[in-house]
Amino acid sequence: MLKDKKILLGITGGIAAYKSVYLLREFVRSGAQVRVIMTPMAREFVGPLTLATLSHHPVYIDFFDHTTGQWFSHVDLGLWADAFVIAPLTANTMAKMAYGQADNLLVTTYLSARCPVFVAPAMDLDMYRHPAVQQNMKILASRGVHIIEPAEGELASGLVGKGRMAEPGDIVAFIRDFFSTEQDLTGKKALVTAGPTYEMIDPVRFIGNFSSGKMGFAIARELVRRGAQVFLISGPTSLDADEPGIDLIRVTSAREMYEQAEKIFPQVDVAVLAAAVADYRPAEQAHTKIKKTGDELLVRLVKNPDIAASLGQKKRPGQLLVGFALETDNEFTNAMEKIRKKNFDFIVLNSLRDKGAGFGVDTNKVSFIFPHGHRKDFPLKSKTKVAQDIVNQIVQLLNSK
Ligand code: CTP
Repeated sequence: MLKDKKILLGITGGIAAYKSVYLLREFVRSGAQVRVIMTPMAREFVGPLTLATLSHHPVYIDFFDHTTGQWFSHVDLGLWADAFVIAPLTANTMAKMAYGQADNLLVTTYLSARCPVFVAPAMDLDMYRHPAVQQNMKILASRGVHIIEPAEGELASGLVGKGRMAEPGDIVAFIRDFFSTEQDLTGKKALVTAGPTYEMIDPVRFIGNFSSGKMGFAIARELVRRGAQVFLISGPTSLDADEPGIDLIRVTSAREMYEQAEKIFPQVDVAVLAAAVADYRPAEQAHTKIKKTGDELLVRLVKNPDIAASLGQKKRPGQLLVGFALETDNEFTNAMEKIRKKNFDFIVLNSLRDKGAGFGVDTNKVSFIFPHGHRKDFPLKSKTKVAQDIVNQIVQLLNSK
């Protein structure tokens, strides 16, 4: 799979840099052409001579060669590569990437690279857990950088926990998987709804729910990875999606989400409705903050538009509509009823009874239910992997439509 792929291997200054030597060998063994860029600090951890010998090419560290005066173009390096893999990625380089600092050849190349970028962070336990690092990692992920998560284990400091760079074999497998994924949704357009909706009671209070938006954002990312163009309509969430291919439309209420979905639906091939839309909203929204008066306050609620049902009615032949159902009881019967009422092609069912499934967490355990009652059950997986299963199913159905 990596035969003749051009891989730019970035090495930053951490103790895990010794593993980059093995990583480089694995890439070369898999048939890839590799060029290496190091930060000046990385040179302290691993010798450029070793890397140059294994990659059959001089290693890039500075912007120019001091002896010949030859200039190394970060633009050319970025354009040459099919993939830029930075392993290990230190907290320092991660911060520079997140904030667009360009004070060495590696980070400058990152800013001008057009190819997919993969990073394998490696740092000490507390450093990895630090909110600044977590925040920077989120920023990179939201811009489409592929994070190859560190593993748990003994760290160079002697501490035990998360922070060890992923093993070279796992990094190569990750990149191989990426390239083996077919761009089977190229030219397709998709609509995804995500997150909760907030229904205002007065200017400072709302009715909402615990949806984090993680599942919908993961689906949007997976669709883009497979070549689709995505309109992601999201209710209030702390998540971001700045990468090319995703058009993020932020809304607050169910009615706003409905308006946007109605507008976009006619032009898409598939819509995945992962949002937890509030079924009701306050009949009246007070213009000023409601003051505390009597012992009781009654808020009368009226029904919100059902986005799924409305799109289901308008669905053209060839268009796919995928829904979600989060149930606490009578899961299967309720899911079947929703498929029928909303004209879904299939529904992703998750039960709040399953540990690790549902709101806020990074994992989910789902079943797909189809209109004729057929079901496919999946084990507990990361939301990213669940998104892959959903998109695989979508591709299969689109091909058979
Ligand atoms: N949905 C929607 N618009 C709504 C309510 C739900 O688009 N106003 C979509 C959800 O995004 C989801 C599916 O419909 O894909 C099922 O949502 P759910 O809340 O489980 O279904 P409801 O029809 O609201 O049924 P109930 O709340 O009674 O279980």
